[in-house]
Amino acid sequence: MKGLILSGGAGTRLRPITHTSAKQLVPIANKPILFYGIEDMVVAGITDIGIVIGETGDEIRAAVGDGSALGASVTYLPQEAPLGLAHCVLIAQEFLGDDAFVMYLGDNMLEQGLTEFVERFDDRTDGAAAQILLAEVDDPRQFGVAELGPDGEVVRLVEKPSVPPSNLALVGVYLFDRHIHDAVRAIEPSPRGELEITDAIQWLIDAGHRVRHEVLAGWWIDTGKKDPLLDCNRLVLETLEPAVHGSVDGESRLDGRVVIEVGASVVRSTVRGPAIIGAGTVVADSYIGPFTSIAAGCEVVEAEIEHSVVLEGSRIAGVERVVDSLIGRDASVERSGVRPKALRLMLGDHSRVEV
Ligand code: TTP
Repeated sequence: MKGLILSGGAGTRLRPITHTSAKQLVPIANKPILFYGIEDMVVAGITDIGIVIGETGDEIRAAVGDGSALGASVTYLPQEAPLGLAHCVLIAQEFLGDDAFVMYLGDNMLEQGLTEFVERFDDRTDGAAAQILLAEVDDPRQFGVAELGPDGEVVRLVEKPSVPPSNLALVGVYLFDRHIHDAVRAIEPSPRGELEITDAIQWLIDAGHRVRHEVLAGWWIDTGKKDPLLDCNRLVLETLEPAVHGSVDGESRLDGRVVIEVGASVVRSTVRGPAIIGAGTVVADSYIGPFTSIAAGCEVVEAEIEHSVVLEGSRIAGVERVVDSLIGRDASVERSGVRPKALRLMLGDHSRVEV
């Protein structure tokens, strides 16, 4: 079986971070989201992986390389524009050949991994052409939604319905056999101009193919927006093994699940887990956590940060309390002391500040 990971897209819901970088490379517990998906595939025995890339392709290539560091062999599949999830299958046809494959949205994360899901499709005896994963959600209107018939089979899939037929959302992990290629060639773009994977799966059902489904156990998060991304960071941090590879002085305190990466230093500070402090980062006279990831090469001085993700090279100083925040690379949040007391901002397009 092969793997197909979608790492193109526009990422409009995560601007301004996505003005300059790929959303799939935003770190969760200091590791790019995309790496979790690749690792899950490798654990499930899938090492031949195609990655669909768009405008941020160079950055993805630089981070993942040939995949060997993650135990995979990666083929990059450039997509000229984000024309839809089914369009990704269309452009991956040569790479996929007649093999069955697992398709994975590069910004999705799920707790349970892929192994059992893949095994059940591999072992199927009913000739199913696809297997989808569903999750019960509170507001299905923002997802692809499945309607089940009287016998419990999927009979209909609708993309972002205003009147949802169920609360079962389509999770961003799908298994297909070669019949999906007929489907993606047959369907037309939707009103939003994309080739929808829901339409392709509906085409399979209408053509008489069996589409199996499972309802997901464990959490699933589409990290494409800030708040779900912070939730995901919290959930993953809760699974980390505490470890100290940097230095922590006698006046500092680490509480609970805390990881201090190589070369980081914590001085006169409290880090309350779950939290991770990245390589080479300096934390001084500060309070960090819980649920916080500070990436490599940052400086946190006389500051308090909780339930936040801070990317590489940023500086946060003299700020009493930063919460629920996603701070990009090489950003600076500082108290200046300059009078008159005021906010002085230089923000990228689509930034959001709550004061
Ligand atoms: P989405 O999050 O649905 O789309 P998007 O990335 O365009 O984001 P936004 O809605 O915020 O503008 O995409 C899911 C995943 O699939 C994500 O990792 C990007 C990827 N993708 C592609 O690779 N090609 C595409 O044509 C589309 C639509 C998405």
